[in-house]
Amino acid sequence: MRLLKGNFIYSIDKNEIEIKKNQYLLVKDGKVEGFYNEVPSIAKDVKVEDYKDNIIIPGLSDLHVHAPQYAFRGMGMDMQLLDWLNTYAFKEEGKYKNLEYAKKQYSKFVDDVKNSATTRLSIFATLHKDATIMLMDLLENAGVKAYVGKVNMDRNSPEFLSEDTIESKEDTIEWLEQIKDRYKNIKPILTPRFIPSCTDKLMDEIQNINKKYKLPIQSHLSENTSEIDWVADLHPDTNNYAEAYDKYNLFGKENKTIMAHCVHCPDDELNLIKQNNVTVAHCPQSNANLTSGIAPIKKMLDMGIYVGLGSDIAAGSSLSIFRAMSDAVQVSKLREAMTGEKNQILTLSEVFYLGTKGGGKFFGNVGSFEKGYEFDAIVLNDESFGDNSDFTLKERLERIIYLSDDRNIVAKYVAGNKVI
Ligand code: GUN
Ligand code: FE
Repeated sequence: MRLLKGNFIYSIDKNEIEIKKNQYLLVKDGKVEGFYNEVPSIAKDVKVEDYKDNIIIPGLSDLHVHAPQYAFRGMGMDMQLLDWLNTYAFKEEGKYKNLEYAKKQYSKFVDDVKNSATTRLSIFATLHKDATIMLMDLLENAGVKAYVGKVNMDRNSPEFLSEDTIESKEDTIEWLEQIKDRYKNIKPILTPRFIPSCTDKLMDEIQNINKKYKLPIQSHLSENTSEIDWVADLHPDTNNYAEAYDKYNLFGKENKTIMAHCVHCPDDELNLIKQNNVTVAHCPQSNANLTSGIAPIKKMLDMGIYVGLGSDIAAGSSLSIFRAMSDAVQVSKLREAMTGEKNQILTLSEVFYLGTKGGGKFFGNVGSFEKGYEFDAIVLNDESFGDNSDFTLKERLERIIYLSDDRNIVAKYVAGNKVI
């Protein structure tokens, strides 16, 4: 058991933030048991972890991040998606064939993840099986929980970053067999890069793999208008981009699925997302950097679509999900200002929900302090922002979202384990 004392803030739903000032939180078997005004009798022998006036919130979830792109983040931000992939992303990812290079770069990525406010991630590796296993090993040791995908891609990329179809299938199966029972915290996720990267034959093979292994799925959807036109050419039998995944049962119906971006989804695509319980990873910084656009998140939330946030390193330059929260607010305001459409602006409560309970849902009961939730938490000291004695806890939370960095993190817990 654990007993923590401090100021707790968490989401009940997208419109409601719960605040427990100066209380005790009991954690049993890694899960939240409840809040108390005084030390409860069942925990009278447990040492109190007293965080005084610090703020304790659920750990953040990053639903979309490319680990092998971390090394060149903050570069090439003057291009749109398809040119950026060809000029920067593919070149860098090709280097992960070399395990020494992969170890050096993935170690830096994992160190920074460990020291961040993020406790759960869904990660793209590269097509390289051995480097992907190395990334999974490093993450396991860091104590965070993550899905990691060996990427599948057999067309429309340079020779040095392309598989043939059979190789892609066989390497994926070998990867899955090699990591069986290897990890406590890290799990595999099927990762067809996006439709332009995967032949129909490869999509068929991934569907077959999924019949046997029954894994979650992640990919990209409707990020950029040129990409969408290209997918329409590649799959003329479909009514929208999503149907090109759904054709192969790789769109939520059978296995839980994350689709990153969803900036330009027509209504029938949004309806399919909703119907198939697909989770949208909203990546506002990436969508600004690559001039992709602004996703209609308010509309998705109103439709009851599951949404969380993603850093989308390296199209997004910051690993911080706090930053993704403030970016999500800011771009939603620009969407309202520029389109003239009403009801586009995301509230503090909504973006806090997206970064915690909304994204956490993909991992189970994660991202809140309600009874039974896995205890993922971040303890934050906000004294460096200046005197906060006149501010409410909710105001202090908003400042943490806009102003904090890793230096404000005092402690971090994942499923009840203290990792920093
Ligand atoms: N679509 C296909 N691959 C990528 C990628 O690496 N980053 C982004 N932002 N979009 C993609
Ligand atoms: Fe991406």
